[in-house]
Amino acid sequence: MRRWLGSSVVSVVPLLGLAHQEEATRVLVAYHSETGNTEKLARAVAEGASRVNNVTVTLRAVGEASVTEILTADGILLGAPVQWAGLSSEAKRFLDRVAQTLVDAKALSREGRTGGAFVTGGAPSSGKELARLTILSAFLNMRFIVLGGVAADGFGTLGPQATTGPDDPGLSEAELDEARRSGERFARLTQSFRRALATR
Ligand SMILES: Cc1cc2nc3c(=O)[nH]c(=O)nc-3n(C[C@H](O)[C@H](O)[C@H](O)COP(=O)(O)O)c2cc1C
Repeated sequence: MRRWLGSSVVSVVPLLGLAHQEEATRVLVAYHSETGNTEKLARAVAEGASRVNNVTVTLRAVGEASVTEILTADGILLGAPVQWAGLSSEAKRFLDRVAQTLVDAKALSREGRTGGAFVTGGAPSSGKELARLTILSAFLNMRFIVLGGVAADGFGTLGPQATTGPDDPGLSEAELDEARRSGERFARLTQSFRRALATR
């Protein structure tokens, strides 16, 4: 045993060293929220993403995300309230800003960024699907790899969502739990893509 250790230690140590030096994967969770519902969902998504080792999660209201935070993000999750059956104009403006920031920095062609969406809406089905698909389509147009969420029964979703009333006010524990699990999956897959592309 000791002999084995003695002869292998030299080759194992640098490998351990390399693993130790891996740069953290950066996930930006951006949200627009007027009455706090989407912000609560964003916090749950961010909490889930933070469960993954060596992932740094930044939670920002859309207007507060800096150029550096957008440019250095390996994955961006955008949350919006549904307004008139689509995403809010503030959330749409954030997408415009992400695209313009990447274009200005000539960074659109960097492969492997991931994008995801989450929403809250007053009704079970009055635009939540369209709002998430609009966000995901914009990310696809920016060459992001688009990721959905994961429901409690194992099926995939377009991303976390919550119905906020008046028939079903607030965010339920089930909705928050789905958001945490989806955030964790998003961070884990973002890290996997980053590692895979780094070794190409
Ligand atoms: C101007 C406006 C339009 C809205 N339109 C819709 C809608 O079309 N469908 C829907 O389900 N909810 C709609 N809602 C409800 C919001 O999506 C819902 O209250 C949401 O949870 C608010 O999120 P926030 O607390 O993060 O602002 C609308 C709310 C506002 C203020």
